[in-house]
Amino acid sequence: MAPRRIVLDLNARSPNWALTPAAARAVREAAPPDWEVVVVSAPTSSDGDGAATPSDEALEAIRPAEVYVGFGITRPLFVAAPGLRWVHSAAAGVRGALFPEMLDGPVQLTNSAGVHGVPIAEYVLAGLLFLMRGLDIAREQQRDRRWDKRRFVEMAAPLRELGDARVLIVGAGGLGGEVARRVAALGARVAGLRRRPELGAPPGFWRVAGLDALDAELPESDVVILTAPLTPDTENLLSRERLALLPAAAIVVNVARGSLVDEAALVEALAGGRLRGAVLDVFREEPLPAASPLWGMPQVVLTPHVSPVSPGGFWPRQLDLLLDNWRRYREGRPLRNLVDKRAGY
Ligand SMILES: NC(=O)c1ccc[n+]([C@@H]2O[C@H](COP(=O)([O-])OP(=O)(O)OC[C@H]3O[C@@H](n4cnc5c(N)ncnc54)[C@H](OP(=O)(O)O)[C@@H]3O)[C@@H](O)[C@H]2O)c1
Repeated sequence: MAPRRIVLDLNARSPNWALTPAAARAVREAAPPDWEVVVVSAPTSSDGDGAATPSDEALEAIRPAEVYVGFGITRPLFVAAPGLRWVHSAAAGVRGALFPEMLDGPVQLTNSAGVHGVPIAEYVLAGLLFLMRGLDIAREQQRDRRWDKRRFVEMAAPLRELGDARVLIVGAGGLGGEVARRVAALGARVAGLRRRPELGAPPGFWRVAGLDALDAELPESDVVILTAPLTPDTENLLSRERLALLPAAAIVVNVARGSLVDEAALVEALAGGRLRGAVLDVFREEPLPAASPLWGMPQVVLTPHVSPVSPGGFWPRQLDLLLDNWRRYREGRPLRNLVDKRAGY
């Protein structure tokens, strides 16, 4: 009988994300005798939600496969493998994998929700403290070799303590939870929004509500942090009207997906001085076009979608999840991080 096949299509062009030799070895060592592990060596993309064109090697390898592990999965790969039963995405966002055959079929889809929580939470803290301590202003002055205390010592100085801030986190999952615990540890009161508020407030949140509470929460929030997936319900969530509900000098942080925010309205609110600043790792169009006004705004901390990068942290966490889930799969037990295909995350 032909062995059961698991395909690892994880040779990311970005070295930080690429399957390490040690992780490949660990998967091989975990394989029972009736399984074969096929590692695709052709490069693949780890960008976005896994909508990359598949390599010929991956297309060939997946044909007799039962399990596929990649940075998402494309439709051509999916339909080439009639025996596929489980797809694991080493990325967290799965929008690119929700094509009709996946949505309507029985193949289980798991993702890497939560895997990026720690580095992204540290990124969010870094960005918030940077703005709240006025380091954006200091950096400008340093560039100009200018010693000037005025912006720091005037009564209207844009400085505040994170512990005094009212923080709203939209998305109380893997990312939101890690952010909440850290921000709460520094004294801030953290409210959260989640799709299923009936499941309660995870550690770090003093309360959670559903997305319908957003309009009521925004005027009470000095900081809004977006950590929810991009789904039909969250698209354009921070619209022009909602940005206008924020109190003066609020800070917007987006580490989720660019399309959650009306970027043009955000630019206007920043340029007009209504907002204190923004910390942005994701954009409606990536790479962010050179013409975007965001590039030139000192009160914006802007990074090229790299907030989860953690050279030492990613593969140990990913491997733990993958090996545990593969064991569960073989034993017919429920998988961790199972995507609710209809909910879109
Ligand atoms: N910047 C990056 O490179 C990067 C890296 C990783 C992830 N991300 C993005 O961040 C997203 C979240 O990642 P994660 O690991 O935290 O995923 P997760 O653990 O699945 O958490 C998602 C959270 O969003 C909430 N949510 C879903 N739909 C919602 C809605 N309509 N209204 C309010 N809340 C909603 C969920 O609510 P429930 O808890 O009630 O289900 C959950 O709390 C990913 O989908 C991805 O797009 C970006």
